[in-house]
Amino acid sequence: MKTRITELFAIQHPIIQGGMHFVGYAELAAAVSNAGGLGIITALTQGTPEKLTDEIKRCNQMTDKPFGVNMTFLPTLTPPDYPAMFQAVIDGGVKVVETAGNNPQQWLPMLKDAGIKVIHKCTAVRHALKAQKIGCDAVSVDGFECGGHPGEDDIPNFILLPRAADELTIPFVASGGMADARSLVAALALGAEGINMGTRFIATEEAPVHEKVKQAIITASELDTRLVMRPLRNTERVLNNAAVTRLLEKEKALGDELEFKDIIDEVAGVYPKIMLDGDMDAGAWSCGMVAGLIDDAPSVKVLIDRIMSEADAIIDQRLSGLRGA
Ligand SMILES: Cc1cc2nc3c(=O)[nH]c(=O)nc-3n(C[C@H](O)[C@H](O)[C@H](O)COP(=O)(O)O)c2cc1C
Repeated sequence: MKTRITELFAIQHPIIQGGMHFVGYAELAAAVSNAGGLGIITALTQGTPEKLTDEIKRCNQMTDKPFGVNMTFLPTLTPPDYPAMFQAVIDGGVKVVETAGNNPQQWLPMLKDAGIKVIHKCTAVRHALKAQKIGCDAVSVDGFECGGHPGEDDIPNFILLPRAADELTIPFVASGGMADARSLVAALALGAEGINMGTRFIATEEAPVHEKVKQAIITASELDTRLVMRPLRNTERVLNNAAVTRLLEKEKALGDELEFKDIIDEVAGVYPKIMLDGDMDAGAWSCGMVAGLIDDAPSVKVLIDRIMSEADAIIDQRLSGLRGA
């Protein structure tokens, strides 16, 4: 399939694996890129520019296809060394950067000079337009369904994607709630030129996370996510568990008085415990409503090939058939 996204990133299929904290390691990014999509390493998970350099090197050894690095700008207690992280990306010969969480404008000149394409992830049309204006090459439009940070507007993709299509001239991918060929074809129909998936890629053979995480996604239904940190205007969609229940009780009890320090035990430093150790109640971890559509953990190649072949069947058979004689 050829779209402006496959052309822009020189990939075979219009499928991107979004950056994911403690999931987006070289193993997963390389598997996605080798299967014809765009895999993405998550920079902040690495912790230091030196470790990011090593991770990019490892990924380069696992694939000769293009892959990207996610750079997330979120409120953190101690800001990472972004300049050195970006330099590591440039020095590593990375072709694509996915930015998220805040305006990437100050980093664009150095990335552009290095010939790197930038896709910015946003949850609102106004932010997508800003990304276009400052020179991003593409955007990833993240609907309210998404795992992670859906923003504060709560606009689901059935509205957000056609709104983005009406306003944008640069290409965009649909993100949030994407799982299969139906998602891809629907996203294309709504004006996107591909899809970005997070949660779906965690439940794959190559995702280097604990088996219990994959099982939790397979077991979960579309009813099992919760929104946390809304009172802090840092809303995150997470899978419900004991820590999330505790966190939501604190939010209810403290109301507008809630401060980050009140919920630090449930949200800070919990990812390694969950993703690596499989301690499933250690804290709140991002997960999309799309968990309700996920009931297996195939290899990344099987997943991507299945999406592409079933998409062809939907377009050629189901949709064409609807037109009648
Ligand atoms: C476990 C997990 C961790 C994530 N971490 C990040 C992150 O560090 N940076 C980021 O930009 N997006 C992050 N995301 C969001 C994904 O890149 C993607 O936008 C989102 O998962 C799409 O929604 P979906 O889960 O419905 O596919 C994360 C998502 C999940 C599920």
